[in-house]
Amino acid sequence: MMYEMKPEYYTGIEKIDQEHERLFELAQETYELLNNDFLQDKTEQLVYLISELINYTKTHFSHEEAYLDSIHYAELEKHKTQHRKFEDTLLEFDLDSIEGDFDSQDKIVKGLLEFLVGWLVTHILKVDMLYVK
Ligand SMILES: [Fe+2]
Ligand SMILES: [Fe+2]
Repeated sequence: MMYEMKPEYYTGIEKIDQEHERLFELAQETYELLNNDFLQDKTEQLVYLISELINYTKTHFSHEEAYLDSIHYAELEKHKTQHRKFEDTLLEFDLDSIEGDFDSQDKIVKGLLEFLVGWLVTHILKVDMLYVK
């Protein structure tokens, strides 16, 4: 496994940890899609991954924000801004007219993976950890 949760990534809040695990899993799936040389047309998987990410992060962010609100977390507004930025970037991945264009597909999968891994490293592993006491 290239991307998976390590012991030091756990917040100790069960629901949030389960959701973070799923986000790592989606990064792993993106990595596998990028390296799948047997699959020429990746359109279907790309559409699935991005819509899964959009839905899943929406759920996760609302849970996390509700939790942070409940503990009166002082940095909540800043934290929310980062979540919204993530959602906006996901919506910018342009999947129109990639069907049959294998080079563009690979570029998008690569871009998605870089974006996700960057997010895992800078947000989950650093920013989310700030609310763990
Ligand atoms: Fe999170
Ligand atoms: Fe967060």
